[in-house]
Amino acid sequence: MDHTEVLKPQTLEELIRILHQIFSSDKVNIEEVQNIVESYESNPLEWMKYAKFDPYRYTRNLVDEGNGKFNLMILCWGEGHGSSIHDHTNSHCFLKILQGNLKETQYEWPQKKSNGAMIKTSEGVLKLNQCAYINDSIGLHRVENPSHTEPAVSLHLYSPPFDHCQTFDQRTGHKNTVKMTFWSKYGEHASVVSVNVGMWSMGGRGNG
Ligand SMILES: [Fe+2]
Repeated sequence: MDHTEVLKPQTLEELIRILHQIFSSDKVNIEEVQNIVESYESNPLEWMKYAKFDPYRYTRNLVDEGNGKFNLMILCWGEGHGSSIHDHTNSHCFLKILQGNLKETQYEWPQKKSNGAMIKTSEGVLKLNQCAYINDSIGLHRVENPSHTEPAVSLHLYSPPFDHCQTFDQRTGHKNTVKMTFWSKYGEHASVVSVNVGMWSMGGRGNG
């Protein structure tokens, strides 16, 4: 198929196959990825095995490691759950809604020596199947499930993959580096996965 046509993935599996193709090249066209991710119509039957909720905070569930080029994951947001304000460690971040809505608020990077409230640059609600994009040159953001009655589920692609980022205090702009972990991997609770890894390799890396 011609590369200029917009491919419409019929299933999540097909979307992943197309993403592998796109990211095997060194040059990534942001708009092309955004269009393809957006054109996949969310089918809960295809992603429910990854959608694992925690009652207290949102969860990150690894779906695919993209041949080392990207991480694809599903985030599950209970009612009212939200992230801190954070950066994306110089990676591309694509965020698609699979169920419910998410509110995205973008902020400017705080000035080096400032000690005041962070400046909000935009605010919007992402709807079912929509795909947003952000990177560090666009700014920082916070993502929240604004509903107090409905959970939300989102699909995130980060390229290149990263396992730490910086979080920011909205009132002071002060930052902290945090390590991110997965609640589950490939549909299995992460502690189960690391037990299995431990059984097969002597050099466990701990905090899987
Ligand atoms: Fe983010």
